[in-house]
Amino acid sequence: MKKIHLYGNWKMNLTRGETEAFFRDFAAQFSSPSPLAGAMGKTLEVAVFPPFTSLSAAESAIRSMNKDVAPILGAQNAYFEAKGAFTGEVSLPMLKDAGCTHVILGHSERRAIFGESDDLIARKVKAALDAALTPVFCYGETLGERESGKTLDVVSRQMHAALSGLSAGEMEKIVYAYEPVWAIGTGKSATSAEAEEVCALSKKLVQERAGRSFPVVVLYGGSVKPDNARELLSMDAIDGALVGGASLKADSFLQIYKQYSESKI
Ligand code: 13P
Repeated sequence: MKKIHLYGNWKMNLTRGETEAFFRDFAAQFSSPSPLAGAMGKTLEVAVFPPFTSLSAAESAIRSMNKDVAPILGAQNAYFEAKGAFTGEVSLPMLKDAGCTHVILGHSERRAIFGESDDLIARKVKAALDAALTPVFCYGETLGERESGKTLDVVSRQMHAALSGLSAGEMEKIVYAYEPVWAIGTGKSATSAEAEEVCALSKKLVQERAGRSFPVVVLYGGSVKPDNARELLSMDAIDGALVGGASLKADSFLQIYKQYSESKI
């Protein structure tokens, strides 16, 4: 069975107290005889991305957990400068200091609501790699772009922009997350075939740019829930899910993996 990367983007949700409750429920899900016991690190990699204000609560909950079930900690955004007069921003070294190893960059909500450009996102991706954090680089088309047949062009443009100036070794360190904008928070996931097509193209594009082949990790995101997890995660080019709404409760979040793994027994 392939390894599933199950990443939870909490967006602007969960206070410190709610974060502590999440981790209590999360740890309880792993006590045997759960199908999750023994999966972490082998067929399952879990990462959670709380808002900045809940990172310290998450970090201490993770530190007090058994290492065999502890998830990875990441943040949802960062600025590319290390420090200075950038009111309201948080730097990559600060995220490292807060216990993060991963950072989501280029999320469509950052692009659409906060006006982040391909160029700004590229600078952030490079800065994250320089700071030895794993970028979870998000990209995807809007509904209008899909309906006018531009999906593959848009995805290629976003990916080429992020990869420009990176070495093959750096490209290999990125986790890629294809998130069609029209599927985010709408309850309407891409079909498995639609998601597979773009995830497969993503792998090809990274390898072509890198000039060599290596395992490219590509997640699908957009209304992933327990009831569509099996089909999406069974696709060849999909290595996992970047989950929004269904990641806010440990039970529904981990159900996504359980639904997939139970279908493979
Ligand atoms: P939903 O799972 O709520 O659609 O959100 C997906 C997402 O944007 C994850 O980054």
